[in-house]
Amino acid sequence: QAISLAVIPGDGIGPEVIAEAVKVLQAATATEAAKFELTEYKLGAEHWLASGETLSDETLAKLRTHDAILFGAVGAAPGDTRIPSGLIEREMLLKLRFSLDHYINLRPAKLFPGVPSPLADPGEIDFVVVREGTEGPYVGNGGALRVDTPYEIATEVSVNTAHGVERVVRDAFRRAQARRRKLTLVHKHNVLVHAGHLWRRTVEAVGQEFPDVAVDYLHIDAATIFMVTDPSRFDVIVTDNLFGDILTDLAAAVTGGIGLAASGNINMDRTVPSMFEPVHGSAPDIAGQQKADPTAAILSVALMLEHLGLPEAATRVQEAVEKDIAGRGTAARTTSEVGDAIASL
Ligand code: NAI
Ligand code: MG
Repeated sequence: QAISLAVIPGDGIGPEVIAEAVKVLQAATATEAAKFELTEYKLGAEHWLASGETLSDETLAKLRTHDAILFGAVGAAPGDTRIPSGLIEREMLLKLRFSLDHYINLRPAKLFPGVPSPLADPGEIDFVVVREGTEGPYVGNGGALRVDTPYEIATEVSVNTAHGVERVVRDAFRRAQARRRKLTLVHKHNVLVHAGHLWRRTVEAVGQEFPDVAVDYLHIDAATIFMVTDPSRFDVIVTDNLFGDILTDLAAAVTGGIGLAASGNINMDRTVPSMFEPVHGSAPDIAGQQKADPTAAILSVALMLEHLGLPEAATRVQEAVEKDIAGRGTAARTTSEVGDAIASL
């Protein structure tokens, strides 16, 4: 039976890196019984300019029918005044993640042999951040009063539900159990007491089901210190939407940068497609020049294969990337040269 994959290349370097990701997907699954059937969707800033569509309910309904979504990046150059700031991000990307209830934002951070880290003594870095994806301060729960007066009041109220926290915490425990069996909750419960205590109690309660997983807690500020001074202490980190957003950019920085950072927007109920994408954006500054590193998009394919229950194909992609990285010299390669090299390993 075929696996039906929606492909959204998007804007800027999105189509360039996705072309290589698809190349590697096809090479890595050539010997699998399951065949991938690809359907391309045009979405993003360019598509909005051409058609006026951000993400229609009709397109959303079509996307829902696929087994998974492979996504490049969307967004215009910061100076492009033809596109209202934040329009595509909110009405396309966030609409997609919220509609498909992608409650897990999975972001692995691994320092591959051969990749320079900005840290003097990085040690072995290999952890995953399980970031909550549908709640927290990103839900748009707020407003502004007395706008443009000296008395303006702006609120952005973080939403944390028992259901939402529990499902992401349970997923993080499961991932920890399959790895080095250590879970670190990152929050700020000494100040953000209401949400913080819900997270803490939930970790305590769900932890009873996972007695073999060691639980640690760090405040977000301390976590940023340890990520730089002692990143090898982390195995699985579970945290809220905002803390996870910031922490994963730092994690990408200490593990060699944005060209390598992969992610999954996942719903483990599997009634909707999960979406896999590089963490980076559309990089308008290098778009169309074959300068983008497609590795992050390719590693996102590995996460997707794992999620779809094809662990051997996922390992093939992962190992090909590791081999390619280990052999990378200083010579510049084009986006498609990197993709060709990884696809052939
Ligand atoms: P960005 O990630 O696109 O670029 C930041 C810097 O990293 C740039 O100098 C870029 O050249 C470099 N870079 C990014 N990916 C790279 C790669 N694969 N290889 C080599 N260099 C790479 O972030 P920026 O500039 O803040 O945003 C550009 C546009 O992308 C904006 O419209 C923004 O809203 C959007 N964006 C979209 C995201 C998504 O679709 N999930 C995520 C982040 C930003
Ligand atoms: Mg971010």
